[in-house]
Amino acid sequence: MVNSNVFGVVLAGGQGTRMGNVEKPKQFMKIGGKPIIIHTIEKFIMNTEFELVLVLSPKQWIKHTEDLIGKYIPNKDRIVVIEGGSTRNETIMNSITYIDKLGKLNADTIIVTHDSVRPFVTHRILEENIHYAKEFGACDTVTAATDTIVVSENNQLITDIPDRSKMYQGQTPQSFKALKLRDLYQSLTEEEKEILTDACKIFVIKGENVHLVEGEVSNIKITYPYDLRVAESLLGGN
Ligand code: CTP
Repeated sequence: MVNSNVFGVVLAGGQGTRMGNVEKPKQFMKIGGKPIIIHTIEKFIMNTEFELVLVLSPKQWIKHTEDLIGKYIPNKDRIVVIEGGSTRNETIMNSITYIDKLGKLNADTIIVTHDSVRPFVTHRILEENIHYAKEFGACDTVTAATDTIVVSENNQLITDIPDRSKMYQGQTPQSFKALKLRDLYQSLTEEEKEILTDACKIFVIKGENVHLVEGEVSNIKITYPYDLRVAESLLGGN
């Protein structure tokens, strides 16, 4: 096993409610004949710098996740499935707790956190995340906004139209020095924790730097049924 102190964290603790009334959370649905989560895990496993790839799943889906990994991934030595949390950030915290229990958590430990439902992440994006997290302590994968962003405070009238050249759309991975992320998260009030869905924002509101990594338009998040069709066509299906 490599001793890189770099961990992949595949976030699969959600229920996928926006996908509609489907029998299993969206990360387990198939595209190109294979579960979405498997496409994602494969991208991480291909990168040899990850000491371990943690996959965080809802408790009742852990066994299923392990079965899928057993079925589709030839060498699962570097993969471990653990329980996710009640929110996305709690899921990330569970990964840090696990690394801590392994005795591997120190000031240089890097986690590359990624939505299990973004199966088109590239090798270049993962490499740059590792690089910038090591150098700056935190980084976020983004693409330059193509549409103009319109702000409305009351969802009825426009309050602002910010300069598009400063606007980006957030993707994942988001990568961090794990110990620092945990310390910052623990310093938040319960109310702040509730509203902070985005892990990078934990750094931002505490005045810490988060470096940008250039994402890809193809690094889509599968959220709605429409996205499944886009994903199939990206795979060269129809
Ligand atoms: N996620 C997680 N733990 C949670 C909630 C979400 O690991 N408690 C993960 C999801 O599994 C997903 C990623 O975070 O891979 C992005 O979140 P999103 O697309 O919002 O997923 P869901 O919460 O599953 O979707 P929905 O909001 O439609 O229920």
